[in-house]
Amino acid sequence: MLSKLFGFRKKESSVLDYAPENPAGYGDWSFIGTDMHSHLVPGIDDGAQTVEDSITLIRQLMAMGYRQIITTPHIKFDHYPNNRTTITGGLHILQNALKEAGIHIPIRAAAEYYIDDHFIQELEEVELLTVMDNQLLVEISFMFEPIRFSEILFRIQTKGYKPILAHPERYMFYHGNMDAYRAIKDKGCYLQLNLLSLTGYYGKGVKIAAEQLLAEGLYDYCGTDMHHIRHAEGMQKMLQSGIMPLLQRYPFLNNKLTVL
Ligand SMILES: [Fe+2]
Repeated sequence: MLSKLFGFRKKESSVLDYAPENPAGYGDWSFIGTDMHSHLVPGIDDGAQTVEDSITLIRQLMAMGYRQIITTPHIKFDHYPNNRTTITGGLHILQNALKEAGIHIPIRAAAEYYIDDHFIQELEEVELLTVMDNQLLVEISFMFEPIRFSEILFRIQTKGYKPILAHPERYMFYHGNMDAYRAIKDKGCYLQLNLLSLTGYYGKGVKIAAEQLLAEGLYDYCGTDMHHIRHAEGMQKMLQSGIMPLLQRYPFLNNKLTVL
C-alpha cells in the first residue's frame, strides 16, 4: 500500500534544508523544517514541566535537524485551562532561557485546542492562537467523535479559521474507516500525523491507521507531539522502520510554516 507514495512529486528545496550534526542518532529530519506540534512551554500542560525540561527537548529537536518550532500547549478546560496569557507568558520565559543558554532556534507558540463546550465558547468570544495565519490545531476525544462534529468544523471555518486535526490516526473509532477520514478532509480540515505513530509507540492499530493515511496521501502536516524525553527517544526507532524515504518524498506542508 505504501508503494502508492512513490508517485509523489519531489518537494521543493528550501532554505530550511540543512543537516546539522546529529549526535543522538535521530536521523536527519531537516526536510520537515518546522515542527508544528509539541508541548514545550514549561509547567502549563503535560509536556515539559520545567525550563530545563524544555531546553532538553528543544536540543533534541535541533539534533534531529528541525530549524523552527511552533509549540502547541494543550487548551483543555478540565485539565489544562490555558489561555493566550498563560501560553505567551510561558513562551517568553522559555525564550529568555534559550537566549541565556545561547540556543538559537526560532520558536513561538500556538495551541492544541481540545474540542469541547469551552472551546465552542472561546471560538465565539476570543481570538484563538493559530499555528500560522488562520490555521488552528484541534484535537478531539480519544473515546468518541464529538457530537455534531461536522457542524463544529463548519463553525470553525465560518469564524475564519482553517482546522488542522491533530493525530487522526490516534482516534480508534475511525480505524478501518478511511471514508470517515476523507469526509473530515472534505469538510475543509487538514490532517496532522504524529510521527511516533509510525513506530508503534501508541500501539499497533494506530500504526496501521497512520500507514494507511500516509499511503492514501491524506496527511497535510506532521509533528513530533513532543512531551518528554521518551518521545525523543522514540523517534530513533523511525530509522529502523524503513519509512524515512517515504516521508522524505511526502509533500508535507511544514516547510511552508514560518516562525519569524
Ligand atoms: Fe499534542
